[in-house]
Amino acid sequence: MTVPPPIAMLAELTHRCPLSCPYCSNPVALQGRQSELDTATWADAFQQAAELGVLQLHLSGGEPASRPDLVDLTRAAREAGLYTNLITSGIGLTPKRLDALEAVGLDHVQLSLQGTHADLADRIGGYKGGFARKMAVAQEIRDRGIPLTLNAVMHRQNLDDLDRTIEMAVELGARRLEVACVQFHGWATLNRAALLPTREQTEATKRKVAEAEARLRGVLAFDFVPPDYYSDFPKSCMGGWGSTGLNIVPDGKVLPCHAAETIPHLQFDRITDRPLREIWYDSPAFNAYRGTDFLPETCRSCERVGIDFGGCRCQALAIAGDAAATDPVCRKSPDHHRVTALLDEAMRDADGADFTYRVAPR
Ligand code: FES
Repeated sequence: MTVPPPIAMLAELTHRCPLSCPYCSNPVALQGRQSELDTATWADAFQQAAELGVLQLHLSGGEPASRPDLVDLTRAAREAGLYTNLITSGIGLTPKRLDALEAVGLDHVQLSLQGTHADLADRIGGYKGGFARKMAVAQEIRDRGIPLTLNAVMHRQNLDDLDRTIEMAVELGARRLEVACVQFHGWATLNRAALLPTREQTEATKRKVAEAEARLRGVLAFDFVPPDYYSDFPKSCMGGWGSTGLNIVPDGKVLPCHAAETIPHLQFDRITDRPLREIWYDSPAFNAYRGTDFLPETCRSCERVGIDFGGCRCQALAIAGDAAATDPVCRKSPDHHRVTALLDEAMRDADGADFTYRVAPR
């Protein structure tokens, strides 16, 4: 098969973060500061990415503003010709730093929203005062005219606030709202009972998003990620393994998706050991699940195989025990009963379920 070049790259600059969100998709085993790539190595990775064909760079974490060299990294990415999107909680973005980021050409900010008021947001983020600081940062971003997306990770504890979340996105001047219902990878899997929405919340969310999308056309664009445990068909994770995007984690390992390290038989190359071009085109990890030939007959004979590519490899491993299986979210999957069982278990344990907060790496 012909492998196209990647379009987007996610650079997890650090796993450090002042927040402790229980829905975090970072791995449970977080990497500490001492294993992070230095500025020059990241800059070289951005240059290699651009030469490979990447157009968009997502600067992420953890909290990317925890890196003192964030402005230098953004400058390096812009000089490489990449469109730069900063994915941030806003904590650590002072007006002076925002000035500097604007001066080096930061293209876009994606600001997370944990809740619509301080009590809720600070409880979910595990960071007192975080909501107030985030609102101040949103205003600073707006004042500078930097395009803003609000990224609302939604779950059982905040989905009933969706109407207010949409209002806030408009008030804060966001051009786009991501209604991103929690996906269960990394830390989020430890919090399934506390976070999994009810079926009623899920149905109400679909209705509200559709209504708001029609009402706010031309004002606010929506990206909606539904809670996939309630879906009939899986999501097209990463647009297909090794087809459109790649991730580099803080220590330089290059992954086909953010949870790929949960697939134990795959070995991942580091950007410090092998050119990015070779890793993308030739590495066994990137070639492991490219295309659809590896999928079972359930997928290969399905008319949706070109839409969802059999779903998420990491979810197939986590729930069905086989990364090459049909994503068990699919109603045609022979393992679909496992998703139903997870739903039943989460609903049974939901009342009084406490958060397991993400802990800070060293
Ligand atoms: Fe790894 Fe979906 S998160 S393929």
